[in-house]
Amino acid sequence: MRRNNGCSIRLSRRSEKRGERGLPDITWRSALRWARAQLELAGISRPGMEAEYLARPGIGAPPVALLNAERTPSVCLWRRYVEVIQRRAAREPIAYIRGETEFYSLVFYVNPDVLIPRPETETLVDAVRDRANSMPPGPVLELGAGSGAVSVALAVHIPDRPFVLTDISGAVLQVARINAGRHGVKDRMSFAVGDLYGPVTGSCFAAVVSNPPYVRSADLAGLPPEIRQCEPISALDGGADGLKFLRRIARAAPRHLRRGGVLALETGAGQARRVAEFCRDFVGEDVQILHDLAGHERVVVSRYE
Ligand SMILES: C[S@@+](CC[C@H](N)C(=O)[O-])C[C@H]1O[C@@H](n2cnc3c(N)ncnc32)[C@H](O)[C@@H]1O
Repeated sequence: MRRNNGCSIRLSRRSEKRGERGLPDITWRSALRWARAQLELAGISRPGMEAEYLARPGIGAPPVALLNAERTPSVCLWRRYVEVIQRRAAREPIAYIRGETEFYSLVFYVNPDVLIPRPETETLVDAVRDRANSMPPGPVLELGAGSGAVSVALAVHIPDRPFVLTDISGAVLQVARINAGRHGVKDRMSFAVGDLYGPVTGSCFAAVVSNPPYVRSADLAGLPPEIRQCEPISALDGGADGLKFLRRIARAAPRHLRRGGVLALETGAGQARRVAEFCRDFVGEDVQILHDLAGHERVVVSRYE
């Protein structure tokens, strides 16, 4: 008997005799039931749906798992599925297990070095994309580029513009490079490791875009386990008031924007109005707050006149 969180899987005698250690006497139907129980015990809110999702091709199993539930999994597929379910039961996000996620209708490679791109960040992409024709000529700078999702999505939709991506971590920028290559925009991108504008001192841009860390330090402990335990803290921690990076980025923006250039910043819950004030103080009067698809104030866009 193999026991795991109170659930058991019986190994067939025939399999044990054949020395096929771990070959279970089960069907995909019972495997899915076992997986559902594991995920339920781990506190996953939709365990049945996730058990099935993780049995899909390219993740935990071939399509046979769902098409012919009475078949027995091979040892290899069973092991793969068990590993995937155990990782998910330990609250690892599905995007890290799969090694990819979708953002702006594009598929991005992700690993635990980078924050998983969020749907609300698509509003940041829209903000810059919608203003691309009214921006001065020149490159777009992204600060804290992470997986590169924002700049890559922009580059796919804004032909010809060069992009400069910076991040405090070299490992993170390696992921951005991979994604730029996957989507055919790497030749228009350059990558520089360093603290915010540090790597581009003395340069001016058509736009500065950023989704910086903006969670208040005191709120980090209350984040769901998927985020708290698995995503990089350096992508989340925005200091005591959550505004440490947003304030620094806005203050230094005039030194790095061309006249008519755009500053587009993603903000956390309840931060947009404060950030709009910094932008009025440091960048100019032309400031707008944009809502994400859930209706939350999410992005602050200002123009440097
Ligand atoms: C919230 S994540 C955003 C990632 C990506 N742009 C996105 O929207 O999915 C913030 C990123 O800022 C980077 N970062 C943190 N501190 C930084 C700093 N001082 N200078 C530059 N980047 C920084 C982190 O490594 C992380 O990749």
